[in-house]
Amino acid sequence: MAEYAEPWSKPDAVDYYARNRQEESDLYPSEKVFLSRVLFPGAKVLDVGCASGGFFNIMRSIEPAIDYTGIDIAEPSIEIARERYPEAKFVVTDGVDIPFDDNDFDLVHCTSVLVIEPRYQGIIKEMHRVANRFVLVDMRLLKGIGGVTDPKDSYYRIEFDGEFDGTTVPYVITDADEVVNFILSLEPKPIALRGTGYFHDVAAAARTPYSQVCMSVLLIQKGAPNNNRTEVDLGGLPIEFAAG
Ligand SMILES: C[S@@+](CC[C@H](N)C(=O)[O-])C[C@H]1O[C@@H](n2cnc3c(N)ncnc32)[C@H](O)[C@@H]1O
Repeated sequence: MAEYAEPWSKPDAVDYYARNRQEESDLYPSEKVFLSRVLFPGAKVLDVGCASGGFFNIMRSIEPAIDYTGIDIAEPSIEIARERYPEAKFVVTDGVDIPFDDNDFDLVHCTSVLVIEPRYQGIIKEMHRVANRFVLVDMRLLKGIGGVTDPKDSYYRIEFDGEFDGTTVPYVITDADEVVNFILSLEPKPIALRGTGYFHDVAAAARTPYSQVCMSVLLIQKGAPNNNRTEVDLGGLPIEFAAG
């Protein structure tokens, strides 16, 4: 866990997320498409990789009556979150080992994490386990790259406010068909998988073999234990999927 927590515990990273991504207006349009549809009064929400809790503020501006818990591996961010939002719950923990019961949350959300954290399967599996209704994640997808990019070949020079301090984090791009097949293999089988997204140029601070990536938001609807069919609607993504 320390290896993954270290770059995100540095003062610049902590400070950046404490000052940015706190309001609904800070979101990309694609990040809003599903969020407003899955929040409802009384929804119990788990936010994986919550940093200093900005999404609590964003979510409650969409739906004020939510019961929110945020988790993150970076303790300094969680300390700020607890101070800033005493009405929410925050826990320092790793998304691959979520300390909650099965089916505990209506919505399990994870934004801007699986783009810097290569262990997407472990995290989605845990998110799906603790969800009873919706799992919402964003990822960078490309066709035909066979798995997840190696952090040695695909990384991001962290430049908070334009300064590079020598810290890099993985710039994770994942094979589009592998992701869909993985989601369709979850137990219980999801009722639905929906997606939206767009291609964009790779960020200037990224070192990666690819020039464009498809930023994708995926909504998984958890199925009942005996569900045997998934409705796949990935028409909102500019990718031809072989899977699904
Ligand atoms: C790029 S920030 C995104 C913060 C916030 N979700 C947002 O969209 O503004 C990534 C956050 O994920 C956290 N993180 C990275 N890997 C994680 C893991 N395996 N489990 C929990 N949190 C993780 C980092 O500590 C950091 O706070």
